[in-house]
Amino acid sequence: GTTLAARAAAVLRDNDTGALVTASPKLYPHMWSWDAAFIAIGLAYLDVRRALTELGTLLAAQWSDGMLPHIVFTDADGYFPGPDRWGTDTVTRRPASVRTSGICQPPVHAIALRRIVDVARANSAGEAALAESFTARAWQALYRWHRWIARHRIAEPQGLLTIVHGWESGMDNSPRWDAPYAGVRPGPDLPPYVRLDTLGVDDPAERPSDDEYHRYLWLIEQMRRVGYEPVEVLATSDFRVGDVFSTALFAVACDDLADLADDLSLPFRAEVAGLRMWAARSRRAVADAADPVSGLAFDLDLRSGERLRTRTVAAFAPLLCSALAEPLETRLLSDLTGPDWAGHPGLTAAVPPSVSPRENGFDPRRYWRGPQWPVVVWLFSFALRRGGHTALARHWRQEGLRLLSDGSFGEYYEPFTGEPLGSTQQSWTAAVALDWLC
Ligand code: DGY
Repeated sequence: GTTLAARAAAVLRDNDTGALVTASPKLYPHMWSWDAAFIAIGLAYLDVRRALTELGTLLAAQWSDGMLPHIVFTDADGYFPGPDRWGTDTVTRRPASVRTSGICQPPVHAIALRRIVDVARANSAGEAALAESFTARAWQALYRWHRWIARHRIAEPQGLLTIVHGWESGMDNSPRWDAPYAGVRPGPDLPPYVRLDTLGVDDPAERPSDDEYHRYLWLIEQMRRVGYEPVEVLATSDFRVGDVFSTALFAVACDDLADLADDLSLPFRAEVAGLRMWAARSRRAVADAADPVSGLAFDLDLRSGERLRTRTVAAFAPLLCSALAEPLETRLLSDLTGPDWAGHPGLTAAVPPSVSPRENGFDPRRYWRGPQWPVVVWLFSFALRRGGHTALARHWRQEGLRLLSDGSFGEYYEPFTGEPLGSTQQSWTAAVALDWLC
């Protein structure tokens, strides 16, 4: 235990530039929005002040309309698409002091802040005071981020959080997005580019395909042309999908942000009421997206109207935000622990893979198409514990730690061999280990 925790701490230290911890040393030498939230939780076990700096760095990159960008760029080379390709330098809503991408990622930041406040309180009165005063200062920025989502990205009448790029889901090449990506038709005027991401891994087959990547770049091109203006992006993007997983996280984050205000008696009555409403609305949207028999929640392609029924781990979104009543919740839990998922024969660690091994096209080595992701396991075990399923939460923590026991902190893992894939020394994997161990 001690050794693994010490190694996890070393990963965060080695990837630390002072103001931010890069997502990984080579493959991702910048700050990613949802990575930063998990990284901040891990940092809280080492130094609460440093954890708060991490969130502060991300919030300093917030656009004036409230959007939190998905990448905050350092001046490191070696990553594509970098800031020139994103072309956000001419966007005046972006803070002049920092270069960023032009899309966002799942809104897990208030969840992280609430966790950090809890960790700080358990540490010492001094750290608690630091975390509480940071919360009082950062609260309105987080609220404006949530309001941006509520204004621009909640698609009525379904109420699901809309994403305009697979990258916004954080699960870039998940088969969830195969059908919507089939409708993305890169134009002949897409400026040429050279991929760099496939150079940072042992085998390019662990990364998205060239065909997928071409579509990713086309969507960025479409958005760049309309200056990332949210209304125009929604009107022009070839990709518009209601994401059940992000919607569930938004529900939890809205409640967490409201809880923080209540807990610290912050003077934001009307804002808190708004957050509670968005939480309830989002939870209901996840419930409405759930199949009445299986309880699995499915994304909705908002351009075609098609329900996207691939069995990925995201379909268990109702468990994240306690969206479903009995008997469906129990049904979902037994599915997720059963032979189609975490209980599938031969898995190294009994935690859910990103795609069911029984699903067509399951690929145990390719990014979001099959491997196990420690950060996803952490999210579910965290939610399960909050939802009162403490034995299962404890079990997944133990199994998750089994996955990480070689100390390389892989980005994701081959479910049948336990081989770390993608990047090693991945910061959010180290952060998750610290939360499990400390
Ligand atoms: C990447 O470059 O693979 C990232 O996931 C995009 O945000």
